[in-house]
Amino acid sequence: MSTRGAFVVFEGGDGTGKSTQQRMLAGTLAEHGVDHLSTFEPGDSWLGREVRRLVLSPGSGDITPRAEALLYIADKAQHVAEVVEPALNRGSVVVCDRYVDSTLAYQGAGRVLAVDEVETLARWATLDLRPDLTVLLDLEPESGLATIGERDRIEAAGVDLHERVRAGFLALARRDPQRYLVVPARSGTPEAIAGVVLRRVLELDHPWPASLRAAAGRPDAGGRRPAGMSGPGDRLVP
Ligand SMILES: Nc1ncnc2c1ncn2[C@@H]1O[C@H](COP(=O)(O)OP(=O)(O)OP(=O)(O)O)[C@@H](O)[C@H]1O
Ligand SMILES: [Mg+2]
Repeated sequence: MSTRGAFVVFEGGDGTGKSTQQRMLAGTLAEHGVDHLSTFEPGDSWLGREVRRLVLSPGSGDITPRAEALLYIADKAQHVAEVVEPALNRGSVVVCDRYVDSTLAYQGAGRVLAVDEVETLARWATLDLRPDLTVLLDLEPESGLATIGERDRIEAAGVDLHERVRAGFLALARRDPQRYLVVPARSGTPEAIAGVVLRRVLELDHPWPASLRAAAGRPDAGGRRPAGMSGPGDRLVP
């Protein structure tokens, strides 16, 4: 039986650097020949593409908060079954841009539905598949949104929604700190943050190649700790 893969998720508000960090981690894994898959929610399955079009298009009609939550959750059910689980079963490292926490933060805390109710539905839909590590890129909403040109339906919502989203993410991280690395999203260059993320990823139980461990120790993998970093990843930073 082959080893099961590892499931790493990037979470955080809009424009916090999730895609940047996902690209950098995937690039490093590729460089060292680690079997991996980069994916994202919502939208990385045939059904998800339709859901993404519906929920994010500024041209969509009014979608009630409960309908919005169910659409996102349907995307997750399909994505886990069609993309994430098969890759983990093949032994791949799955690197995902947004997962269940985003739905809890945006559709729960943000849209003011009961987070525990949304969570029950989302866990049911995903067969309770939890990330081995969630990297939460934390940033005040104004800074993140400022980086975005044309805003989608969610990004265009009021800043108080985005403040609740931020608090929602942080509350989830506090609940299970061993499985989170919370990174102030502008506390260092993308390269410095990627180095800290990589070292935390290498703590996961997975047959990482020696070359990758060696690279993580080098300064070009982000030698200095960005200010204010919190979470178990701190243990690795000299
Ligand atoms: N550590 C950093 N310091 C400064 N700027 C950064 C950092 N990381 C990313 N950025 C910049 O912030 C912007 C948003 O980055 P990115 O697209 O990766 O964020 P995102 O979280 O994926 O956004 P979205 O929610 O829109 O998908 C980009 O212009 C990127 O270059
Ligand atoms: Mg992105």
